Formats: sequence, C-alpha cells, structure tokens
Amino acid sequence: MNQQLENQQRVLEGMSTVVLLFDDNLLLKYINPAGEMLFEQSARHMLSLAYVELIQHRDEISLNKWVEEIKSGQSFTRHEVPLVLFHEKEVTANLTILPLTASDEKTEYLVEIIPVDRWIRITRDEQRVEQQEVTQEILRGLAHEVKNPLGGLRGAAQLLERELPSEELKEYTQVIISEADRLQALVNRILGPAGMPKVKEVNIHEILERVRSLIKIEVQDGIHIHRDYDVSVPDVKVDPDMLIQALLNIARNACEALGGKGNLTFKTRVVRKYTIGHQRHKLVACIEVIDDGPGIPADIREKIFFPMVTGRAEGSGLGLSISQSLIQQHDGLIECQSEPGRTVFSVVLPIN
Ligand SMILES: Nc1ncnc2c1ncn2[C@@H]1O[C@H](COP(=O)(O)OP(=O)(O)OP(=O)(O)O)[C@@H](O)[C@H]1O
Ligand SMILES: [Mg+2]
Repeated sequence: MNQQLENQQRVLEGMSTVVLLFDDNLLLKYINPAGEMLFEQSARHMLSLAYVELIQHRDEISLNKWVEEIKSGQSFTRHEVPLVLFHEKEVTANLTILPLTASDEKTEYLVEIIPVDRWIRITRDEQRVEQQEVTQEILRGLAHEVKNPLGGLRGAAQLLERELPSEELKEYTQVIISEADRLQALVNRILGPAGMPKVKEVNIHEILERVRSLIKIEVQDGIHIHRDYDVSVPDVKVDPDMLIQALLNIARNACEALGGKGNLTFKTRVVRKYTIGHQRHKLVACIEVIDDGPGIPADIREKIFFPMVTGRAEGSGLGLSISQSLIQQHDGLIECQSEPGRTVFSVVLPIN
C-alpha cells in the first residue's frame, strides 16, 4: 500500500497538469508542483487560502453555474474559461472541478487546470519548427544562387565605369553597384553566420547588457529601457554572438514598433519544468523583451516568424526568422504574446 501511495505521489508531482485539492470549506489542502509554477508561488504560501482568493472567474456566470452543479454532486468542466489567478495573473484554461467524498464523509473538491494557450503554443511550435526548416532551406538555396552572380555583376559594373566616356553615365553604373550591394547585404543576412555555434557558459545578463548598450545607441530619448533581472538565473551554454544577434533583432523590432516613444523592458526568470518541442526540461532560462507599443498587426500575427513577412514598409521580414533559427540551434524556442499596449517576446533556453 505504501508503495502505491508513493507512486501516486510521484505521478502528482511529475504531472504537467495543475491539480489542486480543496476541503469542504473550499480551503486549499494540496497543490502539485505544476500548480506552484502556474501560480508562481510555493505551496507553503497558498495552503489554507480560499478558492476565491486563488482563482477568480472573470465571468461570474461560470462560477455560479459551477456552485450549482457541484452542490448537486456533479462534476464541472468548462473549456477555455478566463481566470484571474492569485497575484492577478490572467490565464485561459480548461477547468474541471470534481467533488469527492473524503474518508470523514466530508466533501472535497479536486480542481484540474489546463492552461490552453500554453498547449496551443507547444503544438504550434512543433509544426512551426518543421515548416520553418523547409522555408529556410528554400530561401538559403535561393540566396546561394543569387550570391555568386552578384559578385560578377558588381565587378563588371566597376570595369564598365572606368571605360565610360562621360561622368554623367556613371550615374547608371552607380545604381547597379549600390543595388548589388543592397542585395548582397540581404543575401548575407539570409545565409547568416556560417558554421556551428561556438558555445560556452555565459551569463545571460552580460549578454543582455551588451544588447541594451547597443540598442541605447540606436534609439531616441523617448524610449526608456528598463531592466528586471533575476540574478539567480544560472549560466547557459550558448554562442554569445548568436544570442546577442537574436535578442538584438527582437529588441530592434520593439523599438521600431514604439516609434520613438515608450518603454522597453528586459526581464529574466528561471522556469522549472518546461517543454520545448518534445523535450521536457527541468530548468530553463526565460528572457523576455517587453514593449508597450501598438502590438503586432493582427493580419501577420501568426506568420511573423516566417522569412519575408513584414508589417513595415521598409522591413525585409528577416529579423525574427533569423532569431528563431539562431535560438533553435541552441534547442531553445521563441514565443510571443501580443496585444495593443503589451508585446512580449520570450526567448527560452534550456539550462543543463
Ligand atoms: N514588438 C513588436 N511590436 C509590434 N510588431 C512587431 C514587433 N516585433 C515584430 N513585429 C512585427 O513583425 C514583423 C516581422 O518582424 P521581422 O523582424 O521578422 O521583420 P522586419 O522587422 O519587418 O524586417 P527586418 O528585421 O528584416 O529589418 C515586423 O515587420 C512587425 O510588423
Ligand atoms: Mg526586424
């Protein structure tokens, strides 16, 4: 019997579903580690708190309905309910509440919370990784084909320029040369840094400080840069130049979206038990780049990580696809949540 209890304990502790148990007065008796993660609090701080303190239902109707159903001994399941958790954290989740009869004949309530946006992002990510690899391949192939003739084109224009009888005609060869240079720069960005990442143990805050100082030079005074670092984040194994490049692309986008006025925040956190693709990691470092700009235009929100997708007239649409590919090479992922007034790009990197 003991063995069985132990097994049950291990299952609960290892589950990625959030499980809570409330007593007949709806006070918290148990919460599993996945729950601690979602509520961003240790169990110690939450035990004995009331259901309504921990979980608020955005729509009162669903709460009233729940109380009614539960009283008649039925279980309650609702999909995609908006909840406000302890400490104002908002989530959309599938919620199940199951009345149980405890050994003392009193009723207990087992509550299961599955945040839906998290799941959508994970599954989307697996697909996205594959789709992106294909697009990236096609684009790289094309870039290679363009790269070689470009050199010839530019060289020929230079030779031609020297032979030209009049100065005025040079205007035309200059157009060829500058356009070839522009294309060359584009092609170089698509092809990206050559070779495997040169990884070493780095402190992500040193990386972020580099990014911050580079961005500071570029932006106007109207943009305020904030730091919200968790200094306890352990070092990660990355290629520092690649990580800087990936974060720069994201931060530059934020500044462009802010259009010269607003707030940009670099935030770091450690997250326990996080799934990237198919891989479950015990510990990951999460770097967030947050801006209070207008948000990502709705029509491109689902496609921003694809190359050549841009919402800006002068954009080439390569920044995010390059960042994504750089982070993928480190077994990490980039997520994004955006609404007017708050856009968050999270770079998640495994800590071994
Ligand atoms: N923080 C943000 N706020 C609002 N929109 C954003 C933000 N980040 C990205 N976007 C949108 O996503 C699009 C794609 O970004 P991406 O960096 O891939 O390309 P780009 O910035 O247009 O061009 P490039 O980076 O190659 O110069 C942007 O054009 C912009 O519309
Ligand atoms: Mg960009």
